Parts: sequence; C-alpha cells; structure tokens
Amino acid sequence: MSIAFWEVTKNFGPKRILDNVSFDVATGEILFILGKSGMGKSVTLKHIVGVLKPDSGAIIVDGMNVTKLDEDGLAEIRRRCGMVFQHPALLDSLTVYQNVSFGLRTPQFARTLRRTLSEEEIRARAIEKLALVHLGPELLERRPQELSYGMQKRVSLARTLAPEPRYLLFDEPTTGLDPVTTNAVNDLILELSRKLKVTSIVVSHDMACALKVADRILVLDQARILAWGTVPEIKRSQEPLIRDFLSETLALLPPEER
Ligand SMILES: Nc1ncnc2c1ncn2[C@@H]1O[C@H](COP(=O)(O)OP(=O)(O)OP(=O)(O)O)[C@@H](O)[C@H]1O
Ligand SMILES: [Mg+2]
Repeated sequence: MSIAFWEVTKNFGPKRILDNVSFDVATGEILFILGKSGMGKSVTLKHIVGVLKPDSGAIIVDGMNVTKLDEDGLAEIRRRCGMVFQHPALLDSLTVYQNVSFGLRTPQFARTLRRTLSEEEIRARAIEKLALVHLGPELLERRPQELSYGMQKRVSLARTLAPEPRYLLFDEPTTGLDPVTTNAVNDLILELSRKLKVTSIVVSHDMACALKVADRILVLDQARILAWGTVPEIKRSQEPLIRDFLSETLALLPPEER
C-alpha cells in the first residue's frame, strides 16, 4: 500500500467536503477519482501533499503520516508526489530547458537529495524526461509560447517528472482538450505508469478516460465515496449517478468495449 486515506473528514466552515473517507492506492496502480464539480476531488489531492490538513483522520504516504510532518518531511513528500494540473503553467520568460529543470535547482530539492546536481546531470535529466513524453532535445532552447498547447502539456509533464516522483497526481489532465490530445495524454499516463512504475491518481470528470486507463475508479459524491472498484465493477454499478456517468460514455463505445 502506498497512499492511504484513513477516516478523513474535512470541513470548510459549515460545509463538509470529505466525510469519513477511507481508501488506498496500491503501488503501481492508476486510480481515477471521479465526481461532479465541487465534490472534493482537488481537495483530496491537496491533502496528499499536505497543502490541506484534515479535521480528523490520517493520510499516509509511504508509511508517513502527512498530517504530522514538519517542513522537511513535507518537502520529501512533495518530491515523491509530482503534481500535474489542467493547464501547463510554464514560465514564458524561460526556455523549455529552464522550465523542465526548474524543480531540480530549488534548495528544497537539494535538501531532499542531500546534494546538488551538476549542470551536466541536470541537462541529461531534462533530455531524458523530455524523451519520456516524446519530445526531442531540439526543443530545449525554445520558449513555451513557440510550442503548441499539446507540446506545452508534455513539457509541463516532463517538468513534473524531473525530480523523479514515485507518485503522479493529475488534476483534470484532459479537461478542455480536443479528442486527439486527450488520447495522447491518456496514453502517456498509461505508458509512464507502466514504464516508470509510478503510482498515479487522476482526478477527472471523464468516465471515458477512466474506463480506458484506470485500474480502479473511486467516485466521490456528497462528501462520501459513492463507489470504489475496478473498471468491470464500476461498469456493473447500479448507483443512479454512476449509471448517469456511464450511460453517455458507453453509448459512444463500440459494443465489444461496453
Ligand atoms: N481553501 C478552501 N477554502 C474554502 N473552501 C474550499 C477551499 N478549497 C475548496 N473549497 C470548497 O470545497 C469544495 C470542493 O472543492 P474541490 O476544489 O475539491 O472540488 P472539485 O471536486 O475539485 O471540483 P472541480 O471538478 O470543479 O474542480 C468546493 O465547494 C470548494 O468551494
Ligand atoms: Mg478540482
């Protein structure tokens, strides 16, 4: 077991966002977290990296209770957990190389690694991570605004991969993308997870992506877990909300994939 939520409750003022939520993610697994807008999906990810603290319960990452860690402990958790957001958020004033290597030059990274990387090591890593997302070294000196949106997303993923996280936490990686780029991002999630043996949590609205990519799917609704299971288990669910989520998606699939 690598990441676990144990009876986590979180309120914002009078509003309960997570109500006694417990689940775990196995090493190497791809877990999709689905739910309507405002159901606490992003809040769940933020608890994993200690940006938010629960009112009660515990979040365990690699055996460490995130809620009890000091700043150095949290820096270590954040090195182990790479976050990928909906928008690439690259710095336009920096080159691709500077963007990808950004996280390797911070004092926090040097502290968790217990040394600083040489410029040659940083360069080799940047090239290696770009290759993982199918981009070549000829892009290193380009600026983000010279690249297509899909390429910017890849560069941003390479930046997340640079510190070599064990966990990848994606927050709506395909929301707002065209179908071709959506497929490419899904393929990358699968490929990276298998090749690098990372454990992934993907927050999404997109049941179609989840059915294609997930090992297990967790559906949050009204502060609770409405369903949590493998793809075949979710497909068989009789929960009305899940049937709703599924009906449009399955109708678009060829009969043999339903
Ligand atoms: N720091 C905060 N302070 C107060 N309320 C917050 C905070 N962060 C989130 N919330 C509230 O918690 C609820 C869940 O937010 P969250 O961002 O997790 O939703 P979500 O499931 O990710 O939705 P979406 O699909 O729209 O991204 C929302 O009602 C939101 O307004
Ligand atoms: Mg969100």
